[in-house]
Amino acid sequence: MSLQTESTQNAGAAGTGSTTSSTATDAEPASTGVVLRAPRITDAARLWQIADESQVLDVNSSYAYLLWCRDFAATSVVVESEGRVVGFVTGYSRPEAPGTLFVWQVAVDADQRGRGLGVAMLDWLVSTVTAPGHPAGGAVEALETTVSPDNPASIAMFASLARRRGAEMVRSELFGPDVFPDSHAAEDLYHISPIARKTERDHS
Ligand SMILES: CC(C)(COP(=O)(O)OP(=O)(O)OC[C@H]1O[C@@H](n2cnc3c(N)ncnc32)[C@H](O)[C@@H]1OP(=O)(O)O)[C@@H](O)C(=O)NCCC(=O)NCCS
Repeated sequence: MSLQTESTQNAGAAGTGSTTSSTATDAEPASTGVVLRAPRITDAARLWQIADESQVLDVNSSYAYLLWCRDFAATSVVVESEGRVVGFVTGYSRPEAPGTLFVWQVAVDADQRGRGLGVAMLDWLVSTVTAPGHPAGGAVEALETTVSPDNPASIAMFASLARRRGAEMVRSELFGPDVFPDSHAAEDLYHISPIARKTERDHS
């Protein structure tokens, strides 16, 4: 599978764990390839649709995805396969801990799962936000996310990212079911650090 990126950082071909540098700034998607890039406002409807079809994620309003693609594009990523957006990650720099990238939602279309696209998006995003010149100042050292205990795919994906980065992943309790107003499952906090370094395996 070929992979292109619109950023100066390429986190590696999905499913191969390899890394190549790219200076492309506006790469055209290869017809059989995969492109990782920051979201645009015109992607918001697809993000909303992918979240809805995941049947796992909390589906935010369509307006929320529009705002996200406008204001948090620099800490988010979409993946295109054959010119169609098939996955996304929404994230933000924590206002009280700017060295921490918080990953809010990750989803990949059901028929695209297991290709390495989820972890490729996360790896690309980490490479992007830790690069000098990024609005986060290249100062991001940790990634946090929350996952429900009944989501092994998500936990495995973040564990895979931690391995790629030679980082430690630590779980703790954050939001128990009692703090949700509905029947939402608990959300455990996963703290992954240090994330800036890539392992030798990923430079091969
Ligand atoms: C979680 C999700 C984004 C993973 O996307 P994906 O592209 O299929 O994941 P990848 O192919 O990149 O796999 C990454 C790692 O997770 C593992 N993994 C993926 N799905 C798995 C599953 N169902 N069970 C166990 N491990 C799984 C892979 O084996 C891989 O591990 P490796 O790198 O050690 O080989 C996808 O399953 C999804 O969209 N789920 C619905 C939405 C959701 O649950 N989002 C997360 C909410 S916190």
